[in-house]
Amino acid sequence: MSEKVAIVGSGLIGQFWAMIFASGGFRVSIYDIDTEQVSRALALIQEKLERYEKQGCLRGSTTATQQAQLISGHTDLAECLTGAVYIQECVPESVDLKTKVFLQLDPLLSDDVVAASSSSCLGPSQFASAMKHRDRVVVAHPVNPPYFIPLVEIVPGPWTADDVLTKTRTLMEKVGQSPVTLKKEVPGFALNRIQYAIINECWNMYKDGILSSEDIDKVMKDGMGPRYAFIGPLETMHLNADGIVDYCKRYADGAYSVCQTMKPPPIQYDVPTAEKVQAEFASSIPVDKIPERRQWRDDRLAALATLKRQRDNK
Ligand code: NAI
Repeated sequence: MSEKVAIVGSGLIGQFWAMIFASGGFRVSIYDIDTEQVSRALALIQEKLERYEKQGCLRGSTTATQQAQLISGHTDLAECLTGAVYIQECVPESVDLKTKVFLQLDPLLSDDVVAASSSSCLGPSQFASAMKHRDRVVVAHPVNPPYFIPLVEIVPGPWTADDVLTKTRTLMEKVGQSPVTLKKEVPGFALNRIQYAIINECWNMYKDGILSSEDIDKVMKDGMGPRYAFIGPLETMHLNADGIVDYCKRYADGAYSVCQTMKPPPIQYDVPTAEKVQAEFASSIPVDKIPERRQWRDDRLAALATLKRQRDNK
């Protein structure tokens, strides 16, 4: 029988994790404090698996029906956790709630299980310090929608055991995610630190009247984005010269003088500027059309994920 993974919290992210683990052949138990949510989540998972199968973007080598059969719902936490080798917590982002949930998990943990949190911002030191089994706790932060964006940031607390990091990374690779391991907990982890640096410069260029909001987004989606879907910034430096050393020799002075003209962080994303940008989006993406636009985005991300898997023969 295949190994079992437990999901605690069956909202948007919990459902995606369940589908990802089932696509890798794991048995998945899901639990939610809201008992009706458990059946809603199972129905939504079934619907998504069938839709992705029809669209040709279902992950794994089994059918949607076979994957759905691996997923079961539970209204009792201990029952959900029984026999699980890995737990993925997916409750809302609140330090009090995560602390409470991890204290509930604590007496149910064994010395070899991994208890991972999907937390976007909170590191283990913020919610696991009072636990007996805090060495088994780690953050495994996905990116929305995790079914199509494979990055997972693995973030240890000061006391996280080494085998928890290696087991989490191995598991993520096994189910087709793309894990990175931070060597220590830092605010924003890696993705948001990079994302905020990008948003800061976009915000400043917009406020300084250098580019319209539409053109700022074009710089990313038609300039840097296509390249970064396949190679990262360090490899870009390496390929854009005869190696990264040559790149630095050729371009470091120029880059430094541009960087000196940048405003220092931190900046506040102020509401008057946000209102101006939102007014510019009014005809293309009015606020009441955001759900349709999210669906449009996810369809394209699904197509890109499928293309990347085919190219990499995964
Ligand atoms: P959500 O609000 O869609 O789902 C949370 C679920 O947790 C709900 O079904 C709720 O009933 C359940 N819940 C609440 N208290 C509980 C408890 N004590 N025990 C068990 N279940 C409980 O939230 P979402 O978006 O799925 O986020 C979950 C986590 O994933 C958060 O930490 C969030 O920051 C993180 N995350 C979210 C992303 C996103 O784009 N939504 C992306 C990456 C990470």
